[in-house]
Amino acid sequence: MACEEHGQPPAWALALAALGLLVTARAAARLALWLYAAFLRPARPLRRRYGAWAVVTGATDGIGRALAFRLAASGLDLVLVGRSPDKLAAVSAELKSKRLGAQVRTFVLDFVADGDGDLAARVGKLGEFLRDLDVGVLVNNVGASYPYARYFHEVDEELARKLIRLNVEAVTRVTHAVLPGMVERGRGAIMNMGSGASAIMPSDPLYTLYVATKAYVDQFSRCLYVEYKSKGIDVQCQVPIQVATKLASIRKPTFLAPSPETYARAAVRYIGYEPQCTPYWTHALVGFFISLVPEPIADRMFLNRNLKIRTKGRAKDARKKAQ
Ligand SMILES: NC(=O)c1ccc[n+]([C@@H]2O[C@H](COP(=O)([O-])OP(=O)(O)OC[C@H]3O[C@@H](n4cnc5c(N)ncnc54)[C@H](OP(=O)(O)O)[C@@H]3O)[C@@H](O)[C@H]2O)c1
Repeated sequence: MACEEHGQPPAWALALAALGLLVTARAAARLALWLYAAFLRPARPLRRRYGAWAVVTGATDGIGRALAFRLAASGLDLVLVGRSPDKLAAVSAELKSKRLGAQVRTFVLDFVADGDGDLAARVGKLGEFLRDLDVGVLVNNVGASYPYARYFHEVDEELARKLIRLNVEAVTRVTHAVLPGMVERGRGAIMNMGSGASAIMPSDPLYTLYVATKAYVDQFSRCLYVEYKSKGIDVQCQVPIQVATKLASIRKPTFLAPSPETYARAAVRYIGYEPQCTPYWTHALVGFFISLVPEPIADRMFLNRNLKIRTKGRAKDARKKAQ
């Protein structure tokens, strides 16, 4: 009362103004940091900081293939891991034809198919293949999703096995095979491909198993980041939204779904920095807008979108069967 009589604002109004100022300052600082990281921050000198070779799984198509080209352009030698000898040879030849000066080696490994020993034995052979190389960067990129949206009870044994093998076992086993060398050398960077579907969206119903396997990658990476930081190893999980690849069933790049090459350019600039990141700027914007939508509304939006994808996918399957 006394304050109001003397024309001063009451204490509660001052406290509210101070709080508003703090919130605005925090938001401005976060925006400035994001702008810097997304557009201005220089990439880590990968070869000098971590070692000469980069290992990329799923390097024959999509994001992995594009990452291989960007990593070669940034001065790293490459080990390409893939299931198809022909596609590996083609990517290797194309990389060499670019005259980037990178040495390229290939390793055939199908993470899903049985035969030639179990997966542990096959990844063990990859570990032996890498033993004498100064592996500085590991990119655990290989992964798969559903052909189209479906309820969890409609996911058959084959699809479930494929997702768990590619999205969980591959990243776990390859990391386990590569880490001892990095620990010995006291340096390394590991980049694991997670997904915005688990890290940004509150849910992605009808893609449950895919999203759950990517949540595994996210938490696996986060704990390793803490575990190995003091040993000179930077572990990161990248969580993009959509990229125009066969996995996403997107042929033409769009503003929100960049080409693998555009994504890879942003992705390589982030390696070695934050433990979790969304390197491509339009993905980060989408993430910000999703965070503003109340969860029950976002859940409903994604469920409706995915139900439509399911209906289309089932109709396509039915047409194929009828032919
Ligand atoms: N595209 C997106 O919108 C998006 C969004 C978020 C996260 N991601 C993640 O990004 C990663 C790459 O996805 P992408 O979109 O680039 O997929 P993609 O275009 O389908 O490429 C997948 C790569 O994995 C390889 N691969 C598939 N099955 C394999 C197996 N059994 N053994 C060994 N290699 C195998 C493929 O080999 P072939 O060339 O022989 O087929 C290809 O090189 C995945 O982990 C995915 O979850 C993608």
